[in-house]
Amino acid sequence: MTTKLWGGRFTENAAEWVDAFGASIHFDQQMAAEDIEGSIAHAKMLGKQGIITPAEADQIVTGLMALQAEAAEGTLVFDVQHEDIHMNIEAQLTAKIGPVAGKLHTARSRNDQVATDFHLWVKHRLPHVLATLTELQQTLLNLANNHADTIMSGYTHLQHAQPITYGHYLLAYFDMFQRDYERFEFNQKHTDILPLGAAALAGTTFPIDRAYVADELGFSAIYHNSLDAVSDRDFAVEFLANASLLMMHLSRMAEELILWSTYEFNYIELSDDFSTGSSIMPQKKNADFAELVRGKTGRTYGALMGLLTTMKALPLAYNKDMQEDKAQVFDVMDTVMASTKIFSGMLSGLTIHEERMVASTQDDFSNATELADYLATKGVPFRQAHAIVGQLVLQGIQTKTPLQAMPLSVLQAAAPQIEDDIYHVLQSETAVNRRTSLGGTAVANVKKEIARHQAMLEAR
Ligand code: ARG
Repeated sequence: MTTKLWGGRFTENAAEWVDAFGASIHFDQQMAAEDIEGSIAHAKMLGKQGIITPAEADQIVTGLMALQAEAAEGTLVFDVQHEDIHMNIEAQLTAKIGPVAGKLHTARSRNDQVATDFHLWVKHRLPHVLATLTELQQTLLNLANNHADTIMSGYTHLQHAQPITYGHYLLAYFDMFQRDYERFEFNQKHTDILPLGAAALAGTTFPIDRAYVADELGFSAIYHNSLDAVSDRDFAVEFLANASLLMMHLSRMAEELILWSTYEFNYIELSDDFSTGSSIMPQKKNADFAELVRGKTGRTYGALMGLLTTMKALPLAYNKDMQEDKAQVFDVMDTVMASTKIFSGMLSGLTIHEERMVASTQDDFSNATELADYLATKGVPFRQAHAIVGQLVLQGIQTKTPLQAMPLSVLQAAAPQIEDDIYHVLQSETAVNRRTSLGGTAVANVKKEIARHQAMLEAR
């Protein structure tokens, strides 16, 4: 017999470095509070069911509560000899209350214990993710409200396409973050299921009360299959997938913040407190934080691929491979929380160069579609209208004359249907405000959308 908690059938100890390889305490100590919380509920249930005596249950719960206070103060000391958080807590409990601590593990396995801790850990944090997303959405809405009628170039292929408003652009991100919000909200459903009581894999012969434990821990559902209970990590994969999509959205916006704050674009300027300087070039103001969010998207995708790959060929039920599930989820939780907060801060302090934005739509032929549409309304088949305007654009590029600066005679030579009202039609403001189709960029639409979104946030 060796000194391990499970050492009964062993005669030899592993070398320290081998033990260290198998240990998870260096990261799963983050679940100390959840581990103790789960154990308190379990001990209470054992006492209530008469599986241990009420006095024993009391002793165990009192000891665990003392450990909970130490965990909150950060004074718990962990030992790699005890491998993981579960056995560390049990060792600490034994040191506190003596051998009666050994009764806590009745009708339980580390397999359902670790699954319970991990569910609790994610379940406790998802509401914070949702709150942080709401804050970001509110920030976007405030900015959109200030810029519902700020005209800028819209892009496809990063080429000037058609004029839009900056507010409309911001609301596109609002909608993406709304889907992220809904995905994390749904993530709660699959996280809010209690594995405890599955024991090692097959259930237990003890008369446990899983509904009581679920109630104590605030779980609204219970795994109904013990094999699934101990081997399901879908909730963690779903979290990483949701986080990956969120980071993708942040990263796309980060790219635009970086690009738009360049000398060439100069649409926006980041506030000093959300940018950095250079150690050699005194003039520099870099969008480091936007770049970091863009960069951290990579590690988030990596975590998703990592866990999917870890899980892909695991036979039922528990396998030690699954110990690899937590570190990446912990890391990604930090990443999404921090990145989302950084974005709220960055956007709140943004300076918008409205004049640069609108100037970008003045001599760029982004009104070419207006002219083609105009001809189409006058009965010219759209394909033909497209070709006529294409010719005018070519002429305009060669003579450095935007469409709205061409004399009527020139325009009429290309298409006799063109009349004087075309100059109004060709203005970027007109182009924007005529796009009143559902989902279009017209200022009136944007204002309506802002009101709708605001009401939705307030109803949360
Ligand atoms: N540290 C382990 C993990 O994180 C706990 C479960 C260990 N169970 C076992 N049978 N080895 O997965």
